[in-house]
Amino acid sequence: MPEFVRVADIQEIPPGTSRVLHIRGREIALFNADGMFCAVKNTCPHRGTSLDRGAVEDGIVTCPGHGWQFDLRTGDSVDHPPAGIRCYRVEIRQGWAWVEVP
Ligand code: FES
Repeated sequence: MPEFVRVADIQEIPPGTSRVLHIRGREIALFNADGMFCAVKNTCPHRGTSLDRGAVEDGIVTCPGHGWQFDLRTGDSVDHPPAGIRCYRVEIRQGWAWVEVP
């Protein structure tokens, strides 16, 4: 059953940065996209590069591998549909980020 897990103090993840989370066997990247916190599977569907090191602009992460882009709000590929990345729900509660995982 999915449940929210407290993962990070949001003060420790400034805008434009991310943090890698390991939760229940999953590797998840939690991004602060200019104040919007988004959690996605930390694996590019192209060739598996970790997305947490990708640049983020306007809610779009660019894979550092070969430049594919994904919308962090939906997981949709911007430039290579139907490829996409899994998104996880995020809630901010009293300064902490919580991520919903199965
Ligand atoms: S591994 Fe991400 S674009 Fe190639």
